Amino acid sequence: KETKDQLIIDAGQKHFGATMCKSCGMIYTASNPEDEMQHVQHHHRFLEGIKYAGWKKERVVAEFWDGKIVLVLPHDPSYAIRKVEDVQELVDNELGFQQVVPRCPNKTKTFLFISDEKRVVGCLIAEPIKQAFRVLSEPTGPESPSSKECHRAWQCSNVPEPAVCGISRIWVFRLKRRKRIARRLVDTLRNCFMFGCFLSTDEIAFSDPTPDGKLFAAKYCNT
Ligand code: ACO
Ligand code: ZN
Repeated sequence: KETKDQLIIDAGQKHFGATMCKSCGMIYTASNPEDEMQHVQHHHRFLEGIKYAGWKKERVVAEFWDGKIVLVLPHDPSYAIRKVEDVQELVDNELGFQQVVPRCPNKTKTFLFISDEKRVVGCLIAEPIKQAFRVLSEPTGPESPSSKECHRAWQCSNVPEPAVCGISRIWVFRLKRRKRIARRLVDTLRNCFMFGCFLSTDEIAFSDPTPDGKLFAAKYCNT
């Protein structure tokens, strides 16, 4: 009885006192010690993970007024690979992916968007593929399988279509979204994936898209 009351009070405070950290983007309750501790842990780990000190040998493939895109290849020095692994771990945590081993680690290309503040604020991991299955338009109406229950169960066509490049991960730091960072990452990928040609949007495929990923992909491929 007493614990139940306590729970209700806590739930109220959680809603009331929620704040978003301006550095790491985590939403937490400052008045809740457990939340606060989780935030401190996430905060340090996250900022350490996305810190980018600059490398002696870095492959800058695009430059912008607010940052640059660096390409990392499988045989790059270990400091570069380690950074990619750190970022991928943060991204996978956020997306709820279990450790997924890339199909062709030897051919994986990773694009990191580095902000002016020397932080990795965007990441795109691509790999060569031979075919893809088109995501069919979402069924609508109350009878249709709920996309809320199963976020990734989009219906796919069973007819394979030729494709060249699969995007296995695309992620932008929460506080930097809607600044065209994802768009610039995909543009750069299309330009750099195969030497000497610019891939069409038909030649790239997003694997296992999240709701955010689907909205972005739909918009990107239409423009
Ligand atoms: N809702 C609606 N439209 C969107 C959204 C969204 N959440 N995100 C992008 N778009 C559309 C918009 O039309 C946008 O243009 P506008 O801002 O001028 O309207 C256009 O796409 C371009 O968006 P960008 O600014 O380039 O996208 P952003 O840099 O914000 O990154 C991303 C998009 C990567 C999906 C980001 O929201 C994210 O990291 N989300 C969490 C991780 C995630 O779900 N990644 C996709 C996983 S699927 C996969 O990895 C294959
Ligand atoms: Zn924080």
